[in-house]
Amino acid sequence: MSDQKTYPVPAKIAASAHIDAAAYQRLYRQSVEQPEVFWAEQAELFLDWQEPWRKVLQYDYPKGEIQWFVGGKLNVTVNCLDRHLAKRADQTAVIWEGDDPADSRTLTYRELHEQVCKFGNVLKAQGVEKGDRVCIYLPMIAEAAVAILACARIGAVHSIVFGGFSADALRDRIIDADCRLLICADESYRGGKIVHSKLNVDKAADQCPNLRKVIVIKHTGHDIPWHEERDICYHTAMATASAECPPEMMDAEDPLFILYTSGSTGQPKGVSHTTGGYLLYAAMTHKYVFDYQEGDIYWCTADIGWITGHSYVLYGPLCNGATTLMFEGVPTHPHPDRFWQVIDKHRVNIFYTAPTAIRALMAQGDEFVNRTQRTSLRILGSVGEPINPEAWEWYYHVVGNKRCPLVDTWWQTETGGILITPLPGATTLKPGSATLPFFGVQPAILDQGGHELAGEAEGMLVLTHPWPGQARTIYGDHQRFVDTYFSKFPGYYFAGDGARRDQDGYYWITGRIDDVLNVCGHRLGTAEIESALVLHDLVAEAAVVGFPHPIKGQGIYAYVTLNVGIEGSSSLKGELKDLVREEISAIALPDLIQWAPSLPKTRSGKIMRRILRKIAANEFHDLGDTSTLADPSVVEQLIANRLKLP
Ligand code: PRX
Repeated sequence: MSDQKTYPVPAKIAASAHIDAAAYQRLYRQSVEQPEVFWAEQAELFLDWQEPWRKVLQYDYPKGEIQWFVGGKLNVTVNCLDRHLAKRADQTAVIWEGDDPADSRTLTYRELHEQVCKFGNVLKAQGVEKGDRVCIYLPMIAEAAVAILACARIGAVHSIVFGGFSADALRDRIIDADCRLLICADESYRGGKIVHSKLNVDKAADQCPNLRKVIVIKHTGHDIPWHEERDICYHTAMATASAECPPEMMDAEDPLFILYTSGSTGQPKGVSHTTGGYLLYAAMTHKYVFDYQEGDIYWCTADIGWITGHSYVLYGPLCNGATTLMFEGVPTHPHPDRFWQVIDKHRVNIFYTAPTAIRALMAQGDEFVNRTQRTSLRILGSVGEPINPEAWEWYYHVVGNKRCPLVDTWWQTETGGILITPLPGATTLKPGSATLPFFGVQPAILDQGGHELAGEAEGMLVLTHPWPGQARTIYGDHQRFVDTYFSKFPGYYFAGDGARRDQDGYYWITGRIDDVLNVCGHRLGTAEIESALVLHDLVAEAAVVGFPHPIKGQGIYAYVTLNVGIEGSSSLKGELKDLVREEISAIALPDLIQWAPSLPKTRSGKIMRRILRKIAANEFHDLGDTSTLADPSVVEQLIANRLKLP
């Protein structure tokens, strides 16, 4: 192995793991040499099918057409619930841990199944049919699992909108997917504060003429405004609903959900995942990446509003009959030891979180960790952004007591599940590297001209072959799907990330190469933030770039040009932040706003973001070629007035 520090597989883990180093080599080879044979075997092993498929894979990358298990029929909830009842009806399916440490509850597989069936009937009674889109705007409460699975039960397509998104962002997503029904909570708690979910829904719903019904789950129980003609009480409806709800048989390629994510243009895109391939991929990666063993308590801290919550809080673990923990709160409430307390309280064995949380907790000092035991932990995971080696080492040594393999998992909303990752029993770890491809995943690195680079290389990360969890389209805009992922380098799936492959074949993700930011593990488009800023009457133009941030991964730096004659002020900065909060979410607030009398542009008027990124990152001594700028003096001015980074 190479120069970097490495951590071999602990002997105890290797002895009991599903996949050891030899098995990884053998299965990986089979998965790429005979993909259809490999995936057919896995689909038999992991899922119960109502009807067999006729063809394992059919695809045409240049057209963005991908189909897995063509003609196969199944229902996701049969796989996540019904089939477990014979053996594990009384096993806990979901542990819910509230924002307040005194609040927790559990749902067994029997209880979850019953509630999902009842709620499926509630949805049907409201006229929801197979293929209809249902918007879910819920906090991390146990009923969220019920609502999501109930959609899958009856063949409705869920579109979950992160509970931290504003009313305006929610409205845009409801309209884009043409949702007729929405499920929300009255309010929720986050770090001891109240989040007014229903108020946001009311504001959005008033602007969505096709949205007919809102089902409201009581969580805080406080009084909220009620619209008789639109609102339905979840609890009243559930009280009389039948627990008999036959699963809708779905084609493997019927859509399961839409999930909006940011791209390099302003309009968020509804990434669309289908039934059979997605579920197989979520379940299989959950089992092997986390070396999930029967009886394990598994905790992924992601919110259900993100893909990680879809695949690794719910679908993957429940398909495998696991006990999955849902956490409503934040890592620092009531104290910065909350994660570790929850691990001890529920005897968590597998813990999966984001580097931004690790960095924030590392900054609080070791004593918050050391006051807890964490003896139940066996596997640690990381997702969402590159994990810097310092945070990796702290997570491994201090949180995991040097006993637990740390899997750094690279993937995306569009990939449905984990693509590049260590396997705990098979892979020697290198801090900061997502290491090697999962079964069936064939990464390649391209240069700017689209040529595949061999051996040690750095360039653009692409995938040369489909995998079952891959997204199938962008809702309502297949051409955008083709243009974004399959056109730049025909014949490949283009991920939008840069990567380096080292001498051992290990992948090191270097970050986005487009105008997408990764702030606290949240994916945001610079164009979305710019669109919000220019809504202000006094703003002429805005350009947003990311800069390296010690906790958030990336911070948001906005350059704002005001209308002629307008002076910048701190109150104006406040107004701009309010606009972003209203249009998108508090997660998109700029950390720094610099007044920019003008922006560096090419002669054809294109903003040179490369230069703005360098100025923001304080790397202005090496700006590269500025000769194509229409007015090079703009740069000097921006450098002179740059703001101090946090
Ligand atoms: O840039 C990569 C980064 O997150 C992007 C995908 O974001 P999203 O669709 O929101 O999904 C996040 C959860 C899967 C990727 O294009 N990313 C995700 N995981 C890693 C990562 N970058 C480096 N290392 C990772 N482990």
